[in-house]
Amino acid sequence: MSSEPHKNVFLLPQTNQLLGLYTIIRDRDTKRPDFIFYSDRIIRLLVEEGLNHLPVTPRTVETATNQIFRGVSFLGKICGVSIVRAGESMEQGLRECCRSVRIGKILIQRDEETALPKLFYEKLPDDIADRYVFLLDPMLATGGSAMMATDVLIKRGVKPERIFFLNLICSPEGIENYHSKFPNVKIVTGAIDACLDENKYLAPGLGDFGDRYYCI
Ligand code: PRP
Ligand code: URA
Ligand code: MG
Repeated sequence: MSSEPHKNVFLLPQTNQLLGLYTIIRDRDTKRPDFIFYSDRIIRLLVEEGLNHLPVTPRTVETATNQIFRGVSFLGKICGVSIVRAGESMEQGLRECCRSVRIGKILIQRDEETALPKLFYEKLPDDIADRYVFLLDPMLATGGSAMMATDVLIKRGVKPERIFFLNLICSPEGIENYHSKFPNVKIVTGAIDACLDENKYLAPGLGDFGDRYYCI
């Protein structure tokens, strides 16, 4: 796992398996059931990678063969925060790894004309400032929505170094915008695309993630 070429960006290993999953979800002809199934597989990999970054403490157990095993256990509490709507698609993957995890929601919508984000609603765990936060949104395009959501978290007392932003695809421009404001937030992603198109969509991208996962 490398954080090059961007500091605090952790790109999943670009294996043929991962490339195959992205090929399916990027294909415009892929129908919703397959789009959901293969996106969910990528989401699971992102969550597993995010968990790798959490701090641990040594823990020794006795095995069923009466031996000692020196392992670790996680230190600290986590929660998820999804940026509604598309980010909600990542909640189940987090729950599959972290049973009964608390999940907060921030409703931010990007204006379809200007691509500027607008904040409508937030509902977060009361003790979020004491937790490691997995911020969930599959798309990082201009970075505006993620920056707005991160501002909300920081105003609630979450330290930037405790935030892990999990996403399926990001743009170089989005990473730069985001990290110019929040250099200590770790971005865990599966793909860094070439650029944004004239509508501020990721290119090559996959179109509107929320529409493809929930609607069309
Ligand atoms: C999408 C996506 C991100 C945002 C990314 O959401 O899920 O939240 O756009 O774009 P940005 O980096 O330029 O801000 P959208 O507002 O379309 O809402 P949706 O989840 O309902 O599709
Ligand atoms: N939102 C999406 O769903 N896709 C993009 O490419 C950009 C924003
Ligand atoms: Mg959308």
